[in-house]
Amino acid sequence: MTTPAPQWLPAWETTDSLARVATLFERTFGASTDGTFSAPGRVNLIGEHTDYNGGLALPIALEHRTYVAVRLREDSLVRLVSAQGEGVWEADLDAVAPGAVSGWGSYLVGVAWALRQDGFTVPGFEAAVDSCVPFGAGLSSSAALEASLAVGLDTLLGLGLGGDDDGRSRLAAACVRAENEIAGAATGGMDQAASLRAQDGHALALDCLDGSVRHEPFAPVDRELLVIDTRAPHSLNDGQYASRRATCDAAAAVLGVPTLRHWLDAATDAAAAVASADALLDDDVARRRVRHVLTEIDRTRQAHDALRAGDWDAFGALMDASHASLRDDYEVTVPELDVAVEAARAAGAVGARMTGGGFGGSAIALVPAGTSHEVAHAVAQAFAEHGFTSPAFLTSRAAGPAA
Ligand code: GLA
Repeated sequence: MTTPAPQWLPAWETTDSLARVATLFERTFGASTDGTFSAPGRVNLIGEHTDYNGGLALPIALEHRTYVAVRLREDSLVRLVSAQGEGVWEADLDAVAPGAVSGWGSYLVGVAWALRQDGFTVPGFEAAVDSCVPFGAGLSSSAALEASLAVGLDTLLGLGLGGDDDGRSRLAAACVRAENEIAGAATGGMDQAASLRAQDGHALALDCLDGSVRHEPFAPVDRELLVIDTRAPHSLNDGQYASRRATCDAAAAVLGVPTLRHWLDAATDAAAAVASADALLDDDVARRRVRHVLTEIDRTRQAHDALRAGDWDAFGALMDASHASLRDDYEVTVPELDVAVEAARAAGAVGARMTGGGFGGSAIALVPAGTSHEVAHAVAQAFAEHGFTSPAFLTSRAAGPAA
């Protein structure tokens, strides 16, 4: 069997991309833009399905970004165009409310709505969007969309939020409300934090219990990060994600704690937390979901230490254990993710795991520097052997936030 050459998805150059999105704006709306902005997608190194449990996550911002050109209007009309779509999406911002809009524009109009809910005066606007963050690939294309407009509105309206981490976390909160309440995806907040609060060259050590962050240098000298877009369809608003979240909330209620993180922190260690939760939960599915969350928060803590120590073997082993837990206990992987991870490891990755929400989407592999192409080839071959759609690949260093 001949395997097609792996398809690579390069990050775009920022200056050109901003000029291109400004041109799309001018052609569509017949006027010049007030400003151009951009925001990154993300991969999470470890700490999956922990954010809505008050847990820890460790994402990096990708070099792959969404670009937006914005012009404020005097009225409340919102008109949007995307280089990746057709036609102009329109809504009246005054009429936006939960359940009132649908489609890709809801992520953007939702940000304006959420800033209004937060007390800011936000008028209608026109926006043109272009992106090299692959859609539906679990790389936070929606958070990149939200965050690019959030910094755009912040700048053009002089809200003063983009200049420091406190303001950025308020912008991130508006993006989360846009996604949860207007776009209808019950996601947890890690993606928006990564897009708005990450720092160039650093992983974002995010503590979702109090929203605090630390910036850990992430620039492995002799390793590199390969991202595998499995092309298996992925959606966060089809009920599966929300059902995982509901199971965790119900389990926390049975255990009598506000979040599963509280349960972990009250125990001597993760094994004790799992054992005591097992004894109180009477449903096997709930026990396994809880075991994933408790052990994943613990793994993320250990991965943070491994990162600081530059111990990539330990880091890789934690990635592997995270994937196994997401596959067996949390049950959010699909065959494409499992095959991608196994093939990457067999080809020399020191660790590999699914990243993001799962149910399709992307995997990441930490591979010896200079071997990404070789590993990608092996993964593409394994996909061909399984009769899967050909995957796509990207590499990225830890890049900078929305700007
Ligand atoms: C998606 C959600 C995040 C997070 C991850 C799983 O990416 O948007 O909030 O819950 O899944 O870790």
